[in-house]
Amino acid sequence: MKHILSLLFIVAVLTSSLYAQESVPLKTSLFRTPVFLQIPSETSIGAVWGCNGPAAGFVEYSTKEDLSDAKRVYACVPPLRSIQDKVLSVRIRGLEPNTKYYYRAATMPINYPNAYNVKVGEPEYSAVRSFTTMGDKARSSFAVINDTHSEIDTVKAIDKKLKELQPAVVVWNGDTVHQLRCEDEAIDNLLFPGGCALAENYAFLFVPGNHDFRGSWVRNLDTVLISRDPEEKNSKYWSLGRNFALRQGDFALIGMDTGEDKPDAHSAFKGLAEFEPYRELQTQWLKEAFERPEIKSAPFIVVFCHIPLFNSNPNASRGDSLNGAAAWHKPCADMWSPLFKQYSVQAVITAHNHRFRYDAPTEDRPWAHIVGGGRTLNPKHDTATVINGTVEDGKMILRVYKMDNGKLFQEYKFDPRKNQ
Ligand SMILES: [Fe+2]
Repeated sequence: MKHILSLLFIVAVLTSSLYAQESVPLKTSLFRTPVFLQIPSETSIGAVWGCNGPAAGFVEYSTKEDLSDAKRVYACVPPLRSIQDKVLSVRIRGLEPNTKYYYRAATMPINYPNAYNVKVGEPEYSAVRSFTTMGDKARSSFAVINDTHSEIDTVKAIDKKLKELQPAVVVWNGDTVHQLRCEDEAIDNLLFPGGCALAENYAFLFVPGNHDFRGSWVRNLDTVLISRDPEEKNSKYWSLGRNFALRQGDFALIGMDTGEDKPDAHSAFKGLAEFEPYRELQTQWLKEAFERPEIKSAPFIVVFCHIPLFNSNPNASRGDSLNGAAAWHKPCADMWSPLFKQYSVQAVITAHNHRFRYDAPTEDRPWAHIVGGGRTLNPKHDTATVINGTVEDGKMILRVYKMDNGKLFQEYKFDPRKNQ
């Protein structure tokens, strides 16, 4: 009898606790990730965040920290405001150059049983954060990272260094991941890798690497890393959503896309790749970008691309053979190097090889060729780097930090361009 009473008591407690759980639903955030700022320019910026949807959302922004006169921009699939299960993205336009804005994002739960019974819940707000738009009067500052390959420890070390350096803008120079097989993988690895809020207070400029073109989902990458706005460009360049030529203080920062590391005819692509015409179109765009007044007048021009454009080893695979993957990309080098020389580019910062390398300028190649270290924190092998660019006493300074210990590893100084 004693046992039966004990059993009845346990059943009663369990039942009441289950009932209590049902009656008080657990609160889960509508934000799956923090906001990831991206595609910055003088007058615009993109804000993307992961949501626990279905949800709609917006960003409020203002030059006042209390957001008392904030403007609001909704995530849209024009002419509708977005309802998304996993990712919301907003493009904010009409900003002033070199101006600090405060912002917060909002996510609203949506219940949509049918078109005449849509329920929009109360918004949940992010914390207030800030960003500063680009422009020739803005702070001369950038950082470049590369080949993170979803390595969480590497991303965490990089995030810590970036928060210490506080660059105005960050270039993510490719191979963010190995491949992307689904949207969840993209959200977790790009918007919130290792739980790091990488881009809440400065924006990222994305330069694709060969791995960023791999995986069954990767053709949808725009939902997480949005393309540049076609309206900023001549319509013949609409397909160049990843290229940029932007002023950040005394720097002109130019992003080029070397694409995959094998020719289009390689059997791995099964006829589904068109990088060769894409690289040629970028060459036309680059010629015009160099002639833009704000680029032509920049004291310093730094170009970013993922696959190196130089290798002193004559046996290094050069990207134009069906045998082997590119260690450097001769077809891109042949098209772009003459322009770099003509317009006195000081430095080309690449990635891909995972081991830091500095190739000093020569008479033939009067720009420094820099390969950022990547992927691991192993001090004896492939150590990831953060390269920080600043202008001090009229000279461009590139400081290289190794992520195994976070310490300064190398420093390079450059004079301003002569033909600006
Ligand atoms: Fe890589």
